[in-house]
Amino acid sequence: MNNLIESTVEFVKEKLKGAEAGHDWFHIERVWKLSKKIAETENCNQEVVELSALLHDIADPKFHGGDETIALKVSREFLENQNASEDTIEQVLFIIKNISFKNRGEVPQNLPIELKVVQDADRLDAIGAIGVARTFNFGGFKNNLMYHPDIEPKLNMSKEEYKKSDGTTINHFYEKLLLLKGFMNTEKGKEIAEERHNFMLQFLDQFYKEWNVS
Ligand code: ADP
Ligand code: NI
Repeated sequence: MNNLIESTVEFVKEKLKGAEAGHDWFHIERVWKLSKKIAETENCNQEVVELSALLHDIADPKFHGGDETIALKVSREFLENQNASEDTIEQVLFIIKNISFKNRGEVPQNLPIELKVVQDADRLDAIGAIGVARTFNFGGFKNNLMYHPDIEPKLNMSKEEYKKSDGTTINHFYEKLLLLKGFMNTEKGKEIAEERHNFMLQFLDQFYKEWNVS
């Protein structure tokens, strides 16, 4: 591991002390590992990928009272102190600013491959068995219902139907998790997503089966 990556690991671990379980250091570590795995299959700048994976949730406005500029400033300051090149800093900041699912509509075209790699890795950590676990962890934290038997969530719900089913943890699969496979950028990402997506479908089948005692 080069020195810059090593000191970034320490920086991020420190920053995320006490973070909630969905976005803690272990989420970052999984995304970092997945990013490296995907990066091996693409022609891209490995260091930019790794730094962006490590720093990507530092910039989450959720943790800064909705202000993502603070986090970008903090990341810049850190990278400058580590003597990272201006070129590297700019690439990394662009990625962590634009990676979020929520910003999807606003992201410019012709995204750098390094962003695509880290975005795939971040989305992959939201699906599959880990995705199921993170989602129920989040729902539990919010004290949401797991599921409501009067409501049958499905893909492509009308606004009315969505309103009714909104708020249950099972609904989150239909509003987001089952869509993520279709947003994968890289071939490797698509391949890993396929397996994780199928696992979620299997999970939902089994969930309904047990719920209905059928
Ligand atoms: P990200 O940081 O990956 O953009 P979020 O911060 O929206 O995603 O969510 C973090 C985790 O919590 C993810 O695994 C996501 O699927 C889950 N989550 C987000 N919103 C909900 C919800 N309404 N119900 C259940 N889980 C949710
Ligand atoms: Ni993330």
